[in-house]
Amino acid sequence: MKIIILSVYLLLLSHQTVTEEQVQHVIGEKGEDTTLQCSSPPINVSSLYQWKKNGVVVASQIPPEPSDRLSILNDGSLKISGLQYIDGGQYQCESQPEGFGTWQAHSNLLLQVAGGPTNIVLNITQATALKNGTLFVKKGSDVFFNCSSESVPSQNLTWKFENSASTGAVDKAFGSKSTLGFFISDIQPADQGNYTCVSQNTLSMRTENKSQELLVYYAPERHPECSWEKGNQGPSDFLFICTWHEGYPVPTLEWHEVLKPPVIAKGPTINSTSQETERLEVHVNRFILTDGEEVKCVARHVTGEQNNCSFTLKIPYPTGNPMVTALEGTSVKLQCSETNSLPPATTVWKKNDTVINNTSKYVLSENDLQYTLTIVNVTEEDEGIYKCYSENPLGVKELDVILTVKTTSGGGVVVGIFVSVLIIMIGIVIGVTAYTKRDRICIGLGFGSSSEDRGDIFSLVDSEDEEIFHDAVPRLPPLTNGHATTLVEIHRIPSNEDAADSSEYTDQIRTDQTEPEQ
Ligand SMILES: *[C@@H]1O[C@H](CO)[C@@H](O)[C@H](O)[C@H]1NC(C)=O
Ligand SMILES: *[C@@H]1O[C@H](CO)[C@@H](O)[C@H](O)[C@H]1NC(C)=O
Ligand SMILES: *[C@@H]1O[C@H](CO)[C@@H](O)[C@H](O)[C@H]1NC(C)=O
Ligand SMILES: *[C@@H]1O[C@H](CO)[C@@H](O)[C@H](O)[C@H]1NC(C)=O
Repeated sequence: MKIIILSVYLLLLSHQTVTEEQVQHVIGEKGEDTTLQCSSPPINVSSLYQWKKNGVVVASQIPPEPSDRLSILNDGSLKISGLQYIDGGQYQCESQPEGFGTWQAHSNLLLQVAGGPTNIVLNITQATALKNGTLFVKKGSDVFFNCSSESVPSQNLTWKFENSASTGAVDKAFGSKSTLGFFISDIQPADQGNYTCVSQNTLSMRTENKSQELLVYYAPERHPECSWEKGNQGPSDFLFICTWHEGYPVPTLEWHEVLKPPVIAKGPTINSTSQETERLEVHVNRFILTDGEEVKCVARHVTGEQNNCSFTLKIPYPTGNPMVTALEGTSVKLQCSETNSLPPATTVWKKNDTVINNTSKYVLSENDLQYTLTIVNVTEEDEGIYKCYSENPLGVKELDVILTVKTTSGGGVVVGIFVSVLIIMIGIVIGVTAYTKRDRICIGLGFGSSSEDRGDIFSLVDSEDEEIFHDAVPRLPPLTNGHATTLVEIHRIPSNEDAADSSEYTDQIRTDQTEPEQ
């Protein structure tokens, strides 16, 4: 009876073994633990188990003892801890009912060990890293994207792109090798966004990815612009403005004073603020600026582009006719022109240190930097000194205009006619005398005029010139010996003029400055 039951049981077992001839696939991942099931263990029979790998016993419940990583669990399944690639292979479970010598084969399993994806490395050429790890490239550059990763046995790589404008990720490239690259030539702002490389293990189907944010930077195409604006704290309050628009990201702007050799003593420098902004404003006043000085805005962009703009500061310099005569009862125009000043001056007319406003008596007009004061119905009281007062952050300059008023009384007219007749008669007498004694006069001119006299004539003309244009300016110190002005020195006057002028101006502004050398 016992034998019959056992026979039936063995028949059943052999039948099962036949059905399990099909190979069962098991995929494990490197480093992980896996358990291979020994299917259909004998019921109610305490059995011994062993496992074969590629036909060789690798674990058994009878000696030899299982290795560290391989162990047979109570239900006969094989546990492999810390999977390695060498663990891959054909596994078979065998059981031996206790006391019986024949091993019965059960499961037939194919274990494959997959690894990765690991070590995803992204490489974007031409790109520069920012502090937060984001990369940027210059607009227009050719950019190569490469991705590599490690996978066993193989992988599937995909480059995806996503930005705020795109709806979902867009596939850029796809490949099944261990590296995958693609190329963007003439990269544009639309290419800015997140680039992701997705790596998928073709065996385990495990997916890993790595992203990189890429920004496309560009410097403004136009030049930076230097300009100025009047402040609201009076004529010496100015804003120097530097702008450099349409770059991404915004540039860095700086205002500098450009020192001209020889270096002149100067006060505190312009607050050279370095700011990340498209527009940089700097408040200036007369204590930090000097005439003839160049101020410069240096504009830098993170892409390496650098540009600048500048302007040269000039003190006001009102010019005009310093002597004006008017007939009583008429209207007279005093004119003053202010074309030198940079930044532009505020120019007003003053009398007795009082600013003249538009009234029925005074009509003020300005046209193309020409400032006109019209005095209506001139009387003797209008006589005096009028000042064309011009001010900018560098300082103040005045042009004095002296108005003389001639009365038009009856007696005056008679005297006028008498004087005219007298002048004509004197002219005739001198003319006749000169004609009759012309020989002596010619000799006198020929031998009497020395080179010194000639020099004096030239210098006189020159100083008259100065009188007209530099009326408000303190006089130049006398040249050399004060008398003999040779032709050579006349040529020196224009070349010294700038230095002399600037020293005068700066004297007005600052008193601690030493006189420049002649
Ligand atoms: C990194 O910095 C850049 C510039 O400062 C910025 O535009 C970008 O959004 C930052 N990215 C992240 C992920 O913070
Ligand atoms: C690789 O991935 C693509 C899509 O991401 C898919 O169509 C393809 O079948 C995959 N190939 C393999 C071998 O997994
Ligand atoms: C790119 O990814 C970062 C985080 O990884 C995110 O903050 C940013 O908004 C993304 N940018 C775009 C354009 O999708
Ligand atoms: C001019 O001024 C005088 C004296 O102030 C005055 O008497 C005269 O009416 C004025 N004439 C005109 C045209 O305003």
